[in-house]
Amino acid sequence: MSEKNPTFVILGATGDLTRRLLFPAIYRLFVQREWTANQIVGYAMENWDRNRFLDHLKTNLKTFVSDFDEKTWQDLASRIQYQPGDLTAGSLKELQHYVKDDAIFYLGLPPQLFADAAQGLGQAHLNQPPDPNSFRRIVIEKPFGWDLQSAQALGRALSPWWQEDQVFRIDHFLGKDTVQNVLVFRFINRLLGSIWDSQHIAQVQITYAETLGLEGRWRYYDQAGALRDMLQNHLMQLFTLVAMEPPSEWDADILHNHKAEVLRAVRLILPEQVDDFAVAGQYTAGQVGGELVGGYTEEEGIKEDSRTETYAALKLYVDNWRWSGVPFYLRSGKRMARDYAEIGVQLKSVPDKLFGAGLSNWLVFRMKPDEAIDLVMWAKKPGMELSTEEVVLTAPYKKAGEEDYSAYEQLLLDVLKGDQSAFPRLDEVEQSWRIVDPVLEAWKGKKPEPYKAGSDGPLAQDRLMDGQLSWKPLGNPS
Ligand code: BG6
Repeated sequence: MSEKNPTFVILGATGDLTRRLLFPAIYRLFVQREWTANQIVGYAMENWDRNRFLDHLKTNLKTFVSDFDEKTWQDLASRIQYQPGDLTAGSLKELQHYVKDDAIFYLGLPPQLFADAAQGLGQAHLNQPPDPNSFRRIVIEKPFGWDLQSAQALGRALSPWWQEDQVFRIDHFLGKDTVQNVLVFRFINRLLGSIWDSQHIAQVQITYAETLGLEGRWRYYDQAGALRDMLQNHLMQLFTLVAMEPPSEWDADILHNHKAEVLRAVRLILPEQVDDFAVAGQYTAGQVGGELVGGYTEEEGIKEDSRTETYAALKLYVDNWRWSGVPFYLRSGKRMARDYAEIGVQLKSVPDKLFGAGLSNWLVFRMKPDEAIDLVMWAKKPGMELSTEEVVLTAPYKKAGEEDYSAYEQLLLDVLKGDQSAFPRLDEVEQSWRIVDPVLEAWKGKKPEPYKAGSDGPLAQDRLMDGQLSWKPLGNPS
């Protein structure tokens, strides 16, 4: 993999994503000298000049980075250009003035413009490097499609212009350090290799609970809902990391093949089974962190009769030799009791007769609020009686607020290096849509289950649980 210094073009450079996430990440990489950012070109509809664009970036950087420094900014700013224009090939051709050799085109645009932008860049001949040693790459934000059909249509719109090895689909969860650690921890510790299957594992729970509400994103969110916003992409990717077969080497293609394979093995949810496999919830008024908050339908921009789910839970079965019969639960919700995220793997219990029923181990990858791995075990309780108690072995990874770099910084570096391991491939995206499509279809026009803001989600989530299993309480080791 070559480390080069391409021209970095941001389409949608005056938008929200650029100012909140992308540019702060570029700045931080520049501060840390991870990237010298020789030439950055902002491209957007606004008929601004370069100075206006620089002012806009600077004002926002001061808000979104904690280490703003005037001298560093001046240095970075000297490398930034601005070009106004739309997404027609005629207009995009103006970029040829800046783009000579290696280049990356970052689409910080609304999803409905992805196809036009990719095509316009192609028609303006910006997709083709001038020689075999140079590259042209395109970076696309989620959501990649709205359902299976639209994802496939988007794939078809891109493919005449961009080869799969030029396309980087951002799923920022894959740039998170703890998420990357799931794979490393799984495959570097022999201890886990021998228990990682249906003979030893009872269930897997992947939970991403947020206290946040809509944060002004109602236009997007009310159309999307939790299943599209969080489960189809982020949580489904976490699921693949837990369930995929071990790769023989750390190679992007091999990783993607294994991830796609396990997604393909997920049992299709039939329309008549949706209620047994999925739960939709919507928050009502309640208390979050001691503060009274309104219900979803009282949020700005949301209609009283909105049926958008702000909580979604899914049960998946993987029909292969390793996982046959093991339920994988995925759930995420807004306005829940706490900000808490984890991947919990519960082992089967030992025979009941020995020490009593229901004692089992959990291996928990905690992602939020702090990052750690917990192994929940049982031991003899000190004393003369033969009784047991839970012991938790904790390996701290990072504490809250200790993050050295953001997921965006990590992923940007990967794009610069041309490393596609952390970017979902088209077939993975399509397989994820295949899994959630029947649920989206069944939920159309259906009222989600209410749950109080500040709670652990709708009571109806319990109906997904097989046999003796239950949801792990938010924030408890077991
Ligand atoms: C985004 C979703 O992709 O991920 C948001 O659109 C969600 O709704 C966010 O809040 C969660 O990610 P993080 O990294 O901010 O916890």
